[in-house]
Amino acid sequence: MDYALKERIGKPELFTGRKEELTYYLDWINDIKDEKSQSTAMLARRKMGKTAIMERLFNITFYKNDGVIPFYYEVRENKIWLVDFCIDFCLTFVYQYIAFKSRKHEYLGPFEKGNLTRAKQTAVKEGLEYVVELINGVEDAVQNERDGILWEIVREAPKIMAFRQDEFIVQMIDEFQFINGMVCLDKNLEKPVKNLAGGYLSTAESKIAPLLVSGSWVGWLMKELNSLLPARFRYKFLRNMPEDEAVEMLYKYSRFFNVPVTEETAYLLTGLAEGSPFYISAVMRSNCPGKDLTTTGGLIRTLEFETLDDEGTIKSSWLEYVSSAFPQINDRNAKNIVLHLSKHRDRELTRQELIEELNLDMTDGELEKKLKALVKADIINQGGSNFRYRGVNDNIFDKVFRGVYEEEIREFDAKVIKKEYSEEFEKLKKKYYSLLGKLNYQKGYFAEYLLLDQLRLHARRNNELLKSITRYLPEGFDFCNYSRVWKYDSSPGYAGRISIDIFARARSAGDYSIIGEVKSRDVRKFSKEEAAEFEKKYTQVKKLEDIEYAVGFVFSRSGFTKEAEEYCREKGIACSEDERWLGPGK
Ligand SMILES: Nc1ncnc2c1ncn2[C@@H]1O[C@H](COP(=O)(O)OP(=O)(O)O)[C@@H](O)[C@H]1O
Ligand SMILES: [Mg+2]
Repeated sequence: MDYALKERIGKPELFTGRKEELTYYLDWINDIKDEKSQSTAMLARRKMGKTAIMERLFNITFYKNDGVIPFYYEVRENKIWLVDFCIDFCLTFVYQYIAFKSRKHEYLGPFEKGNLTRAKQTAVKEGLEYVVELINGVEDAVQNERDGILWEIVREAPKIMAFRQDEFIVQMIDEFQFINGMVCLDKNLEKPVKNLAGGYLSTAESKIAPLLVSGSWVGWLMKELNSLLPARFRYKFLRNMPEDEAVEMLYKYSRFFNVPVTEETAYLLTGLAEGSPFYISAVMRSNCPGKDLTTTGGLIRTLEFETLDDEGTIKSSWLEYVSSAFPQINDRNAKNIVLHLSKHRDRELTRQELIEELNLDMTDGELEKKLKALVKADIINQGGSNFRYRGVNDNIFDKVFRGVYEEEIREFDAKVIKKEYSEEFEKLKKKYYSLLGKLNYQKGYFAEYLLLDQLRLHARRNNELLKSITRYLPEGFDFCNYSRVWKYDSSPGYAGRISIDIFARARSAGDYSIIGEVKSRDVRKFSKEEAAEFEKKYTQVKKLEDIEYAVGFVFSRSGFTKEAEEYCREKGIACSEDERWLGPGK
C-alpha cells in the first residue's frame, strides 16, 4: 500500500492493530456512497491513537480510490486569527483534493502557507478549473474583510464540492473542540470566537460529506457538541487496545527500536499499560539512562523515570495537559480534590464527602463549579449521578499526578511509586505464571513472538536442532538468513486482510521462505480443517509476495489430529509441537 500522507507515527509499519476501529470506520466511509453515514465523533483522552487512526483512514481511503475523497484537517492547540485559520483550512482541503484527483502524492506535502494564487495555478495545471472558483470566493472574502462569510465558504467547501461534482467526501477534523477557543476574531489573538463550531449545524447533517471529528478533551467536546450541535453526532469512544494488539505493538516497537524484552517483561508492561498505545510506545522509546527492559527491575526503573523525571515522555505529556487545564481551576483545593479522588479511585465520592473529608472551605455550589471544570478537562470522571465523582481510572496518570502534586501539597516520598509498581508487577506475575501453569507451559504465552525471534535471530545457528524437531521439511531444507521476519500484516486495508502469524522472507532467492501459523493457547489439537484453511492462506501469501520457494509451517503446542498430520505430510506442510522452538537454544 502507498502511504500518501506522511503519518506522524513514523514508519508506516509501526502502526499496529486497531482492527475493530479500522473495520468500523472503513465500512462507515464506504457507506457514505449510499448516503448512510451519520457524522461521528471519536472520543478519547489524548495519546490514545486517534490521530494515528485518522491518518491511516486517510491513507487507506486515498489508496483505495473508490469513490470517497478523504479530507483530513487537524485543528491545533494554538491561538490563530480567523482569517489565517480559514485560509489554512481551505488550502489544506484544496491540496488534498487536487492530490486525490491527480493521484499525485506530492500535493500532500507542506504547501506554501497562505498562497491562494499558487493553489489556483496548481488547480489549473491539473485540469481542475472548477476549484479556482472556490479559491476566488475565499480571496474575495479576505480582500473585503467579510470574515463571517469567509468561514462559511471554507466550512462548506467540501460539502459544496461534493454536491457540484457529484462526489463523496469524508471530512476528518482532528481535535475539533479547538475550533471553539483557539480561533480569534482579532490579529492580536485576544478575542476567541465563541461559537465557530456551531456553524456546522447544517454541515454536519450532510450525507455526501459527513464529518468524522475527534477530541482529546472529551468532556469539553461533548459539552460543545451537545449544546451547539445537538443530535448531529454519534459518539464513539476509542478504548485501549485489546491484549493481542497491545502485545503485537510492543514486540513491533521492541524490534524496530532495538529494545529487547523477555516474554515476562512483555506481559508485565502490556498488563500495566492496560493496552494504552502511548504508554507502551513511551516506555519502549524511553530515554531512561541505562534502560534495560529484560528484567523486572529494569522495567520498574524505566517506569519510575517516565513517571517522575522531567525528561519522561509520559510525565511531560501529562503535565502539559494538566497545566493547560488547571489555570481556570488552579489552586490547592483543586489539586487536593484530584489527589483525594485518585487515592480512592475504586469508588465514587459525593460532593458532601469531599467537603467533609478535605475540610473544604467552600459552598456546595462553588465546589460543583470546580468539579465540573475538572470533569470537562477529563481529569476526573463524573460518577453515576450529578453529585458523585471519581478519579480517572488510569494507574500511570495517577502516579504522575501524585508525583508532581503530592510533593507540593503534603509530604511525599518518591519511593512509594517504586513500591507500587513492584506490587502491581507481583500481581501480574502471579497471573502470568498461573496462566502458563494452566497450560502446563514454562513459557510461550506469546509463543508466536518467541518463534519470530527464533527465526530472526537464531534459526541459522540452530539449524540442525530445529530441523530435527520439525517434520515434513522438504529434502535439502536449511534454515537461512531472513530479510524480514514478521507477522503478516493484520491491519485492515492491506492485501485482502490476510493475517498470518509468521512470515519470514529468505534473504537470498534460492533459499526457502517460511509462512507459518502458531497455535499455543488452544488445548485442542490442530485439525485437518484448520490445516486446509492454513494451506489456502499460505498459497495466497506466497503468490502475493511473489515467492518461489516457501515452506508452510504449523507450530501447535497441543499437537495435531491424526487426519491433520496425514494432510500435512501429504501437502508438505512442516509440523512441530516441540517447546525447544520457543527458546534461543545454545
Ligand atoms: N495503532 C497504533 N500503533 C502503534 N502505535 C500507536 C498506535 N496508536 C497510537 N500509537 C502510539 O501512541 C502515540 C499517540 O498516538 P496519537 O495518535 O498521537 O494519539 P491522539 O491523537 O489520540 O492524541 C503515537 O505517537 C504512537 O507512538
Ligand atoms: Mg492527535
